[in-house]
Amino acid sequence: MPEFPYSRLRRWPDVEADNLQAYDATDVLLVERALALGFPGEEIAVIGDEYGAITLALTDAGLRGIRVHQDLATGRRALARNAAEQGLGGSVSGYPDEDAEPRGVGGGHAAAGPDRLGSPTPFVAHELDGDLLTGARLVLLQLPKSLAELEEIADAVARWAAPDAVLVAGGRVKHMTLGQNEVLGRSFGRVQAERAERKSRLVVASEPLPAPTEPPFPVTAEHDGLTLVAHGGAFAGSRLDIGTRVLLEVLGVAPEALRQAQGPRGGWVAEPVEAAGDGGWVAELVEASRTVIDLGCGTGALAASWALAHPDARVIATDRSAAAAASARATAAANGLAGRITVTHDDAGSELADASADVVLLNPPFHLGTSVHTGAATRLFEAAARLLRPGGELFTVFNSSLGYRAELTRIVGATEQLHRTSKFTVTRSIRR
Ligand SMILES: C[S@@+](CC[C@H](N)C(=O)[O-])C[C@H]1O[C@@H](n2cnc3c(N)ncnc32)[C@H](O)[C@@H]1O
Repeated sequence: MPEFPYSRLRRWPDVEADNLQAYDATDVLLVERALALGFPGEEIAVIGDEYGAITLALTDAGLRGIRVHQDLATGRRALARNAAEQGLGGSVSGYPDEDAEPRGVGGGHAAAGPDRLGSPTPFVAHELDGDLLTGARLVLLQLPKSLAELEEIADAVARWAAPDAVLVAGGRVKHMTLGQNEVLGRSFGRVQAERAERKSRLVVASEPLPAPTEPPFPVTAEHDGLTLVAHGGAFAGSRLDIGTRVLLEVLGVAPEALRQAQGPRGGWVAEPVEAAGDGGWVAELVEASRTVIDLGCGTGALAASWALAHPDARVIATDRSAAAAASARATAAANGLAGRITVTHDDAGSELADASADVVLLNPPFHLGTSVHTGAATRLFEAAARLLRPGGELFTVFNSSLGYRAELTRIVGATEQLHRTSKFTVTRSIRR
């Protein structure tokens, strides 16, 4: 059988560049292993298929009914598009009602329409839940970046997959650590790392152990009255990231500031305390900030802090990671803000209307997967420019070494530095 045309796959709508590919040798090794093991498609679950290479190569080989989970909205859209372009499925509209659905509850759907091989359901998309894994005997995994994310996945496989399930996890050798084997060892009786091939390596985990009554995630932590809830894949876990904290302090909505500003009856006051330095502009902001978007919200620390400080604001939190969106939803609930913060799982707020926001809060990513690339931040600057009304404000925190000010000025509008330490810079850009 000719090899699946991996090089035709695209990353779009994720950032594309000459040094970035839509598949890697790990995908190919995982596909080869699955075909060698010979499980029927209905018994296979694929987790972390970045742009659909694994799912589509197996579908192309004739397997049907594969279940797939992708954390990123961009990955889900790329799989849909790649499936359509390869004639392996017509349309994927996204996971059903995902924004309304709590994590851990089922609801998969046929991820592809009629394909050139004549089957209506080549593969089915699910969240990381029982529907993805129940009855699965082979789970293929592209190892995630963080150990916490791996732990949540390993627990889910041991919890829901068949008792004789085998998890074949793969990664690029340079990104793999012994810590990953240890994490897998908490959920599986046997963990076997294989010899590296094409700079990738497979680790086979078998003999699932009984899952603890309580899943290890989400985790919760208190920060002076702000509660953060995190699934394994969420940025910074339940910690308050130091860059995030710097931005909150400049905005006058950090947990300690809010505690000090608590009204006599214990309710949050509408006015934030003065920001570090000249706080004059913060007061103006209170009037103007009706709709606020936390763009790339992670656990929702910025959204929740803003909502606590501004009871009248309409706050939207959005992230392309399903783990982040689920975490932000849980953070909102834990802070009594469930009805006040709308959380969406989306790529760069694409489903939010143009010029609909008065304020955008942004702590952009500076790593793209494991390759350092600023394209991901640029994409969010462009999104902020689109989402803000003219005169609307973008508050950004970034690593001082990155010097984003010129780019923010070009993409959004006049940008001033509000605060700078050796590590972090906070800017305000006014949408032109
Ligand atoms: C540095 S973290 C900041 C998280 C959170 N705002 C905080 O301050 O703790 C950046 C976040 O941006 C998200 N992100 C990256 N690219 C994105 C995109 N295209 N659309 C939406 N979110 C994105 C990541 O998933 C991650 O949660």
